Amino acid sequence: MNVEQATVLKNERLTPAHYRMTLACHPSYQEAVPGQFVMLHVSGRDAPLLPRPFSIHRFLGLPGGEAAVQVLYRVVGPGTRKMARTREGERVQMVGPLGRGFMLAGAGSRPMVVAGGMGVAPMVFLVEAMLEKGMDPKDCRVFLGARGREELLCRDELIDAGVMLQVTTDDGSDGEHCPVTHPFQTAARADPPERIYACGPEAMLRCVAQAARVLKTPCQVSIETLMACGIGACLGCAVKGKPQDSYLHVCSEGPVFDTELLGWS
Ligand SMILES: Cc1cc2nc3c(=O)[nH]c(=O)nc-3n(C[C@H](O)[C@H](O)[C@H](O)COP(=O)(O)OP(=O)(O)OC[C@H]3O[C@@H](n4cnc5c(N)ncnc54)[C@H](O)[C@@H]3O)c2cc1C
Ligand code: FES
Repeated sequence: MNVEQATVLKNERLTPAHYRMTLACHPSYQEAVPGQFVMLHVSGRDAPLLPRPFSIHRFLGLPGGEAAVQVLYRVVGPGTRKMARTREGERVQMVGPLGRGFMLAGAGSRPMVVAGGMGVAPMVFLVEAMLEKGMDPKDCRVFLGARGREELLCRDELIDAGVMLQVTTDDGSDGEHCPVTHPFQTAARADPPERIYACGPEAMLRCVAQAARVLKTPCQVSIETLMACGIGACLGCAVKGKPQDSYLHVCSEGPVFDTELLGWS
């Protein structure tokens, strides 16, 4: 884990509400696993006291042995508003890589990836890492859903990766007009995958987990909770696990969990 004042190399506005920030980082981020996250804190006036968690969207090796990480974020409150106002060359406190990431499928595997809304943030890294491990892109089925066209992120990156992509929107402004879980469930029943990965709103994750249970397919999900420290010290990120009265700390034991470990009925 590194604690650093990371220089902002770029902070691109992708839509009125979404940005992609590229931060110079310690070269050891090369070992980061998709699903791991960083805690970011922009100091100054109007800044919240506590850092905020963001999935690692991508690791970039730069010329001269330099390295960078990208985070993809939606502006929802004071922390992300402050991030959106951050300019190139400014510094942001970054702690990471943190948490446990996805267990990567490789050559010969046939996974399904389900991403809802901002849940796509760690999934591009996941898909690219699996392709690097030798997975055939045609064997990787990705279901990308969002509320509407404006919220559909990373479609071009996934098309470039060559995976089998299905797009949905809740309002029908792009792709199929339905929740992302519909084409996922239909495809999973017709041709069950070997494993399932998902990130997105909890209702979507619960639905994916239920389908995985019926199909008896291993399933990993990345879940979000409010986080104060990100390193297992405040115990503020606990969620119910199995058995019933146990708790899991999302920052240190997750954010990626096998769904069988979660206390979801
Ligand atoms: C492991 C992890 C990875 C994340 N990755 C990303 C990412 O890649 N991109 C991204 O945009 N966001 C991500 N998030 C969510 C992100 O941390 C929050 O959106 C951010 O903290 C909001 O900060 P804020 O100060 O702008 O807004 P706040 O004022 O903190 O929050 C605004 C509103 O959003 C709610 N909220 C904040 N965080 C969460 C949460 N985690 N779950 C549910 N509701 C929440 C608050 O209750 C409030 O209603 C991640 C969260 C976790 C735990
Ligand atoms: S956020 Fe502090 S223990 Fe998890």
